[in-house]
Amino acid sequence: MSGSPSQGQAAPAKRETFSSRRLFILSAIGSAVGLGNIWRFPYIAYDNGGGAFLIPYLVALLTAGIPLLFLDYAVGHKFRGSAPLAYRRLHRAAEPLGWWQVLVCFVIAAYYAVIIAWSLMYTIFSFTEAWGDDAEGYFFGNFLAVAEAPGIGFTYVPSVFFPLLLVWVAVIVIMVAGIRKGISRANSILLPLLMVMFLLLVVQSLFLPGAAEGLNAFFTPDWAALADPSVWAAAYGHIFFSLSVGYGIMVTYSSYLKRRTDLTGSGMVVAFSNSGFEILAGIGVFAALGFMAQAAGTGVNDVVTQGIGLAFVAFPTIVSQAPFGGLMGVLFFGSLVFAGITSLISVLEVIVAAVQDKLGWGRVKASVVVSVLVAAVSLGLFPTATGLYLLDTSDAFVNSFGITLGALVTVVVLAWFLRKLPLLSAHLNRVSTIKMGRAWMVLVAGVVPLALIYMVANEFISKIGTTYEGYPEWFVGLFGWGMAGALVVLALILTAIPWSRTSKAHHDPEYDDVVKEDAQEAAP
Ligand code: ALA
Repeated sequence: MSGSPSQGQAAPAKRETFSSRRLFILSAIGSAVGLGNIWRFPYIAYDNGGGAFLIPYLVALLTAGIPLLFLDYAVGHKFRGSAPLAYRRLHRAAEPLGWWQVLVCFVIAAYYAVIIAWSLMYTIFSFTEAWGDDAEGYFFGNFLAVAEAPGIGFTYVPSVFFPLLLVWVAVIVIMVAGIRKGISRANSILLPLLMVMFLLLVVQSLFLPGAAEGLNAFFTPDWAALADPSVWAAAYGHIFFSLSVGYGIMVTYSSYLKRRTDLTGSGMVVAFSNSGFEILAGIGVFAALGFMAQAAGTGVNDVVTQGIGLAFVAFPTIVSQAPFGGLMGVLFFGSLVFAGITSLISVLEVIVAAVQDKLGWGRVKASVVVSVLVAAVSLGLFPTATGLYLLDTSDAFVNSFGITLGALVTVVVLAWFLRKLPLLSAHLNRVSTIKMGRAWMVLVAGVVPLALIYMVANEFISKIGTTYEGYPEWFVGLFGWGMAGALVVLALILTAIPWSRTSKAHHDPEYDDVVKEDAQEAAP
């Protein structure tokens, strides 16, 4: 990368920053707390040992989640760029890692918005309990009009298409407004609202008859589960998605931090807030499920589900039966909308920042082009009769062979091939209160890759033997394996495209100053 400014070049716009550490922390929590916390964590915990799961969960958080969060912060903050630019500044050969993360975010954003759109509709449906007494039939039949079999169909479902369009319009407005006026402001409004709504929901759930049984089921520890490696893999697998680490988000957000910001201290606040919210979600969800089981005269075991089943089948059923159920529905689905939006904008920012850097575009142009492109894919493929199959397949494969495999390759390249951990650790220590020692490097270079290798291997074995969910082979081949493979190929192609002449990769006096000052400070 040439650092020398060429004559006569227009000075690039100053890189935006979060105006305060508080707003960065708020935005990072907004990113971490998402659909994963509300509908995924409670079930994963229950299914993997209940109360005993908190042990592998905490171990995974401390030995992999937080160390990797610090790694993302160090890369983004030291090299002050979007994921591709930051990795390129770290080492030229590392640029494809950044593009891979950008592409993972493209896929996630396209389907994540769809779930927000469903939640938006269900917030409205909660007022009238539109699903009547058949929540399952209503969701898959009346609402999504799901086709009998997976395929590529362009039968659009207006009740999903239009709310999805609305979500995209709202998100584009936030993205165009930038880091301070858009992302920071959206998070400072939506996150407190989310917290208040979710707390009310948890309190309301705790007062339902049967809540104690639900909590009992959730917290009763099955100690034998601790001997099962798949329980540990579940804990490690969950923490990456949940904390938003390993797919470019924290690299991008931390690149907008002022130069002297306590990175590790902030990371601790973010990580523990995310986990606190997750455990709170477990309490709220299981209290409600305890009520549902009691109303149905069955055990909690018979009613627990995750993901789509939990949010759009179990919860509507609870809403219909609970006192003040409508309120509960509005709180639950409204929480999903707010938690979803604050995560979606962070996922999109990874792409917007990368395009801005590579092509030298301004904020408005990059946000509009990127958001419209992702929105076109999202609106074109998902609000259709076959969209649910597509969503399910892309979610499963992008998690396993995008986030997990991508995180594995990134840590191995950074730690083992490029040997950059001492440099990054020195950077963290220079600006932060909590200092990183050898332990951090051992965790990032040893524990994290080992955990990731085990998970990726498990995913390969479970997905290669059988066709995913019994869907047709061509479908999984195209949207599962094909999509995951295309991310890698496209990452290499994007790397090969030259950086624009006006890009900060060529001319960035701001960054040059940072490098100079850092060198002076680091000198003995
Ligand atoms: N970290 C976000 C979530 O949990 C993406 O949903």
